[in-house]
Amino acid sequence: MAYIQIPDDEKGYKLDLFCVPKHYEEDLDQVIIPHGLIMDRTERLARDIVRDMGGHHIVALCVLKGGYTFFADLLDYIKALNQNSDKSVPLTVDFIRLKSYCNDQSTNIVKVIGGDELSTLTGKDIVETGRTMETLLSLLSECNPKMVKVVSLLVKRTPRSSGYRPDYIGFEVPDSFLVGYALDYNEYFRDLSHICILNENAKEKYKV
Ligand code: IMP
Ligand code: MG
Repeated sequence: MAYIQIPDDEKGYKLDLFCVPKHYEEDLDQVIIPHGLIMDRTERLARDIVRDMGGHHIVALCVLKGGYTFFADLLDYIKALNQNSDKSVPLTVDFIRLKSYCNDQSTNIVKVIGGDELSTLTGKDIVETGRTMETLLSLLSECNPKMVKVVSLLVKRTPRSSGYRPDYIGFEVPDSFLVGYALDYNEYFRDLSHICILNENAKEKYKV
């Protein structure tokens, strides 16, 4: 499946070319993926998914908290396709919460909270090592879903990867710590629309 590759030497865009909340101005290095580009890519992922689902009912499972913006935007695009074409896919939603991160480090523990009807389409923020998704997939398989497809907006290019790849990928990104569009650093930066690189000062400032 095709995706957009953001190279390691991507310069991005200067912060002051975009609208960024004043309270984060000192914390970010540059904008790596502007909000508009996220939306354009998400629109296309929606089209690919609807094409591949061939009329099957979708239970869309959102992986909170990081996946919530992507999930909502992706579903909006799927809904738009459903109401504007001859072919449509019935859609229901569910939510699950996973937590594995402290500061900018992945911990070995993946905590799962919630989610009662687990199946088909899983919407996620970012895959780094793949450990979070592998844990969730093994949980999902216990519910014997007909089919499970994973959509992740981002996949990180990192030597720490387990080799796990989602079925649909928005962007492949360099091995830096990214925030914005719901990606957080200790719960901060979810209220930022663009995906940005966090600077070293901010890692210290928001450390727990
Ligand atoms: P994995 O289990 O190593 O694949 O980690 C995936 C999870 O780690 C994601 O759901 C995020 O919560 C978090 N994560 C990984 N990389 C980043 C990042 O660059 N920024 C923010 N969160 C991240
Ligand atoms: Mg997080």
